[in-house]
Amino acid sequence: MCGIVGYVGNKKAVPVLIDGLCCLEYRGYDSAGIAVIENNQLCVMKEKGRVDNLKAISGIDDLNSTIGIAHTRWATHGKPSQENAHPQIDNSNQFAVVHNGIIENYHELRDFLTQKGYHFVSQTDTEVIPNLIHYYYQNGITDEDKFLRAVKSAVDDLKGSYAIEVISNLFPNRLIVVRKDSPLVIGKGKGENFVASDIPAILSHTKDFYLLDDNEYAVIEGDSVHFFDNSLSEHSKAVRIIEWDATVVEKNGYEDYMLKEIYEQPNSIRETIGARLKLGEKCDFDDIAITKEYLNNIRQIYIVACGTAMHAGLVGKNAIEKLCHIPTQVDIASEFRYREPIIDDKTLCIYISQSGETADTIAALKLAKSKGAKTLAISNVMGSSITREADYTLYTHAGPEIAVASTKAYTSQVVLLIMLAIHLAEVLKSAQTEELEDLKSAILNLPAQLEAVLDETEEVKNFAKRIYSEHDMYFLGRGIDYCVAMEGSLKLKEISYIHSEAYAAGELKHGPIALIENGVTVIGILTNSHLVEKSISNLQEVVSRGAKTLVITNQKLNNTNFNTIINIPETNSLVSPILSIVPLQLLSYYISKNKGLDVDKPINLAKSVTVE
Ligand code: AGP
Repeated sequence: MCGIVGYVGNKKAVPVLIDGLCCLEYRGYDSAGIAVIENNQLCVMKEKGRVDNLKAISGIDDLNSTIGIAHTRWATHGKPSQENAHPQIDNSNQFAVVHNGIIENYHELRDFLTQKGYHFVSQTDTEVIPNLIHYYYQNGITDEDKFLRAVKSAVDDLKGSYAIEVISNLFPNRLIVVRKDSPLVIGKGKGENFVASDIPAILSHTKDFYLLDDNEYAVIEGDSVHFFDNSLSEHSKAVRIIEWDATVVEKNGYEDYMLKEIYEQPNSIRETIGARLKLGEKCDFDDIAITKEYLNNIRQIYIVACGTAMHAGLVGKNAIEKLCHIPTQVDIASEFRYREPIIDDKTLCIYISQSGETADTIAALKLAKSKGAKTLAISNVMGSSITREADYTLYTHAGPEIAVASTKAYTSQVVLLIMLAIHLAEVLKSAQTEELEDLKSAILNLPAQLEAVLDETEEVKNFAKRIYSEHDMYFLGRGIDYCVAMEGSLKLKEISYIHSEAYAAGELKHGPIALIENGVTVIGILTNSHLVEKSISNLQEVVSRGAKTLVITNQKLNNTNFNTIINIPETNSLVSPILSIVPLQLLSYYISKNKGLDVDKPINLAKSVTVE
């Protein structure tokens, strides 16, 4: 949940580190720090709060070091404070460490080190790491490369997840990194090398990346990167060229990343569709080679994910069951992994994760693999942990998503899942060609329809102005519109801090209607012609109890008395979420702006949840 950056080369390290941290603030923003080696001494500067507070420390701009590590924190162990901020250093001031992840056995390790005479100044789990490195460096290691061996011995003692960077004034040109279950990439430059939790943080410096594997070490100097496996045998590693333009991680004139990402959706959907879909041709999913024999043998599909990705899975379930007739369950990853689901080799498990680093989703994937199921990952991040674990991977190609609230990743996940359902139906011959062609044409029309939705935003802005100071809201829908209601409600909670609930409209009478009182806001989503009359009746029930209503629809509504109606283009009901979610994304955005909140970095949340 934290962001780490590293640099070793021929330039001043501090500006590179600070720029990288600014790009990674979405991973954590309660404190930030850097360590560099200045005049052969470790120099650590850190501060509570945002990276801006770190930048303001007097003297930070005067540091001339060309090597350094940096961190932006999302607190797990120990409150946000200067002493708990990273880098953490050992008692002798010789080893500085930044860490993303959780050391589960840090109590034990602290006790061990305390007995050996070490003391601790923070409440973090991380502080054991530099002290363990120091301990092993002093004790019994006689090899030539004592630094790497000491880091490896310390890491061998750790239980949990970690991406770690270490520097030492004893080796002033060397940066050592290692990871397990937390992301870390190395950017290769000319006479300089970079490290980061995520590619975008260093994309302005290089497009050549090494994606570090679990339990793999790298020893990095300005003109070299050496890789070692868990037994410290050296091996070579191929560079991956990342074709993203550096501007994809800039705001490009938008006030916030979230707004930029909402407006990117016509293009991100084009990228997701890519060359997979053409009218009159079979969907192209050659990259996962799922055979008819295998599919005929499948008895059930699980779609497992967290948060927004899980909501995308709900739409995917509708598409797969409708087109392929395979029973499909959607599970929250943190529930799935502990509820002993029935999994065997006749089960296909699909895992959705924008970041590809979500701890619960990865654990749920490992569980299914251990029981013989085939696993398919859907992710937005190339080489992310989930893609390395899964049997098959599909990328959404939505481009980097920086805002904590997921928008374009959701719509891309939905499109990809529907295309996957079409593909499976084509392999199984389980749906009429006409039906599939109609759906393909609806998907191909989406970018233009999204542009139309994004051109008409006045009504949403006005509604947001009217209701932004409220405390509770309700989202109602039936069928696929209920899936969208859930996602709309999550978005609102996340960035506007307004309590909201999503209900299947038909459930209203079974309890929630007791909460509807004069003036409360209810948002209805009505896109399915078969269900529209029923949903209208449910909404009339709340109107007659004094609710203010916003309705998002692609249907012709006659004689209704809803306060605001937002019309969206008509489309196949399976793909309607991609259009109906957009006004809800914008509604949350404008409510948050009206409240004067930080849209991109909502309180208590981080972009990727790498802890349970
Ligand atoms: C989305 O707006 C949320 N920030 C959150 O629910 C997110 O979708 C969830 O944490 C899963 O993340 P992932 O897709 O990276 O696995």
